[in-house]
Amino acid sequence: MRIPAALLVAFTLFVAFALEPGKPQAQSAVALSGQVTSAEEGAMEGVVVSARRDGSTITISVVTDAQGRYAFPASRLEPGKYALKLRASGFQLPGAPTAQVSAGQEAKADLKMSKLRSLSAHLTNAEWMHSMPGTEQQKKFLLNCIGCHTLERIMKSSYDAEGMTDVINRMATYYPGTTPLRPQRLAGNFQRMRDRGNVKPIVDWLETINLSRQDTWQFPLKTLPRPTGKSTKVIFTEYDLPEAHIQPHDVIMDSKGNVWYSDFGQMFLGKMDAVTGKVTQYPIPITKPGWPLGSLDLEIDRDDNIWLGMMYQASIARFDQKTETFKMYSIPKEWDSEGAQFGHLAVNGTHVDGKVWVKNSDGTKIYRLDLATEKWEDLGAPSDPRTKRRIGTYGIHADTATNDAYLLDFAAGNIVKIDAKTRVTTVYLTPSPNSTPRRGRVDGEGRVWFAEYRADRIGMLDPKTAQIVEWKVPTEWSAPYDAVFSRHGHAWTGSMVTDRVARLDVETGQVTEYTLPRPTNIRRVFVDDRSNPGHLWIGSNHGGSIVKVEPLD
Ligand code: HEC
Repeated sequence: MRIPAALLVAFTLFVAFALEPGKPQAQSAVALSGQVTSAEEGAMEGVVVSARRDGSTITISVVTDAQGRYAFPASRLEPGKYALKLRASGFQLPGAPTAQVSAGQEAKADLKMSKLRSLSAHLTNAEWMHSMPGTEQQKKFLLNCIGCHTLERIMKSSYDAEGMTDVINRMATYYPGTTPLRPQRLAGNFQRMRDRGNVKPIVDWLETINLSRQDTWQFPLKTLPRPTGKSTKVIFTEYDLPEAHIQPHDVIMDSKGNVWYSDFGQMFLGKMDAVTGKVTQYPIPITKPGWPLGSLDLEIDRDDNIWLGMMYQASIARFDQKTETFKMYSIPKEWDSEGAQFGHLAVNGTHVDGKVWVKNSDGTKIYRLDLATEKWEDLGAPSDPRTKRRIGTYGIHADTATNDAYLLDFAAGNIVKIDAKTRVTTVYLTPSPNSTPRRGRVDGEGRVWFAEYRADRIGMLDPKTAQIVEWKVPTEWSAPYDAVFSRHGHAWTGSMVTDRVARLDVETGQVTEYTLPRPTNIRRVFVDDRSNPGHLWIGSNHGGSIVKVEPLD
């Protein structure tokens, strides 16, 4: 966007006056505060205000209250010059305001936003979903299209139905940890979305809502309401990773408080110091040369070893923190195939019987690796007793006390338990049909918490009662990917679509959503519940950063 020069000068003057430091105080509890307003709304609630010190890789953000006021605690901003940014859907902050923070003083910065006249570059995937005409069924198809890029690319394209069919076929040739800036092709003749069925009804519909028949959209572009009340009581800390193209798919903390991440598009395991943000990248050995690079699931066992699902490398990796070395376990040769994909594993019950659960996405087969003998066992693909269809496992999670496994059926709405001793399977059906449970965790009481991707819900299975309870995430099209329970009675989830995370108070059923400072694409969620209410850690899979979310109540 181009801003007229005169306006820029006027704005710079405005900011210069607004940023006068307040009265010196002996010990100010606030380092920087101010009010966010706009001509259209006056005081603006729910605006995310971000401050980054010159030269730092860490950005701190707070949210404005009902009077449009924000305040950064002095404990979070050390003295220095800060660049300020705002996030409020449909609005922009012209210019590049800065604030000088000095020890023991409260700096002031009142900031004025202006309404955007062109929204399309600013909409989240969820806002596109809310804006576009179409049936729920049609829109749900687009939940297949947000892993590598946003919906903007589709909505701004001018392909007719035939052209879009070719595009969708091309998409099937990319590795899931692809971005348009760093594409990776699948190897061999394997295609991910092959035999997906007839896309004709979808491409016929896409042709009517993209720019193939018109120069602009024939429907209004809508933004979602900003956070209010409880949703504004939060502090975000964003740690930029050394390169913007790092895709921190899973972010997890070990018992000593170190943060670890998997990189979906490269052969590195990342470790980050949670205080300084310093990152170490450990190169992971290649086990299947010529096949796509990157890992998905990151798990930590009872001895603080880090485990990774190596995707199309068709192996799992164990990283020993003491020796800083990897041990790789590859698929047995006779089971290998062009589509062999080891994204998911479970090790949190491995201390019980020395076995690791692994999923091979090619055929959604379930394997068990015996660590003592290094022998693999193929348990095949369990099927749904009602439909006789094969269970389309996404996440696989183990019970810490028994090493029983739970499979989350991303093809329908089942949770399948495999008894570690007897191998007997039990199938539980989610109350919402075709909810596509994606990933989750088994808590200390043996309850399975999971996200229902296509039902916008957090689910919980209690195997003792065989009951599944569900809670709706308030924002429609949240498409939650993962869920985790904290010992303080909250369950958390994050969205690949809305740039929001949600915290459920399990006792009251109240859900509080928090809007993140920047576009993210969130996969795994991890809660550090050593304090109450604890901190949520997520990876910004498309933003090259790790984000800590700290609710203030
Ligand atoms: C596995 C990653 C991946 C997924 C999933 C994906 N895309 Fe893409 N998409 C890409 C990449 C990489 C590009 C840029 C390179 C290209 O056009 O082939 C792209 C580009 C596009 C473009 C622009 C093409 C052009 O010629 O300008 C459209 C339209 C598109 N995708 C539609 C879709 C749709 C519809 C879906 C869901 C069915 C989808 N994408 C899912 C990776 C993906």
